[in-house]
Amino acid sequence: MTKKVLGTVYLVGAGPGDPDLLTVKATRLISQCGALVYDSLVPLEILELAPKSAELRFVGKRRGHHSVPQVKTNKLLVELAKRYEVVVRLKGGDPFVFGRGGEEAAYMQRNGVDVKVVPGITAGIAAPAYLGIPVTHRFAGSSVTFVTGHEGVDQQRPEVDWRGLATSSSCLVIYMGIHNLEYIVQELILGGMDPATPSIVIQQGTVVGQRYIKTPIFSLLKNVADKKFVSPSIVMIGSVVDYQVDSCFSEPAKVTMPISFD
Ligand SMILES: C[S@@+](CC[C@H](N)C(=O)[O-])C[C@H]1O[C@@H](n2cnc3c(N)ncnc32)[C@H](O)[C@@H]1O
Repeated sequence: MTKKVLGTVYLVGAGPGDPDLLTVKATRLISQCGALVYDSLVPLEILELAPKSAELRFVGKRRGHHSVPQVKTNKLLVELAKRYEVVVRLKGGDPFVFGRGGEEAAYMQRNGVDVKVVPGITAGIAAPAYLGIPVTHRFAGSSVTFVTGHEGVDQQRPEVDWRGLATSSSCLVIYMGIHNLEYIVQELILGGMDPATPSIVIQQGTVVGQRYIKTPIFSLLKNVADKKFVSPSIVMIGSVVDYQVDSCFSEPAKVTMPISFD
């Protein structure tokens, strides 16, 4: 006979790094949790909101190591839900934006575990916002696409039609795109995007260490390589980049990342 599952697993968005961007609901659940399961991009200042007695489990990627396999994380969450009433599965940004939150939620449901989602502020909106760049602007088109540049590694996901996106979306916000930029830019230009289209790369948005470079896409790759941009970075492409309002700049937060960023 399976043991009755006691707890609820909360898939909680931790936001993009600055602890001030944590939602009130996320803060409350973290401070009440019995167990906290977290990824690489969650700063220490957020983990410290958990009770001293909470069981903290890291399942992200360490430098030079693979992240904990998804299936192991899923099983861990079920096990913890048998022991604790409140299990927080804390994810950078928003759990449902390139965060495998959907997979974890479905697994909890299949295994009879109560599961709830607490949305977080996604990096693709927050990183540009801290630099005064809106993801949409009335004078810069009418659409924005959140897209992963990491596809292909995960064979289950269909390939991104970059050539199609070149003309179908006014603004592209690319997650995990830094290592695949050569291909992405080449495909966008082949798909009809003007090589002079503005772009910005933002590394470590919202936290100290934040840096960025603005450049037309034809020189994006060279700039990123010359200035040694690394992960985690958001790449934003579209004329909306030119609508930056300097006086909107927000001070990046001083945080300690328990696990190296790259
Ligand atoms: C696995 S995805 C997770 C996205 C997350 N769920 C979200 O909603 O922001 C990780 C990618 O998000 C982006 N990212 C996350 N935090 C970031 C930050 N503080 N600054 C820039 N990019 C960030 C990077 O592209 C990074 O490679």
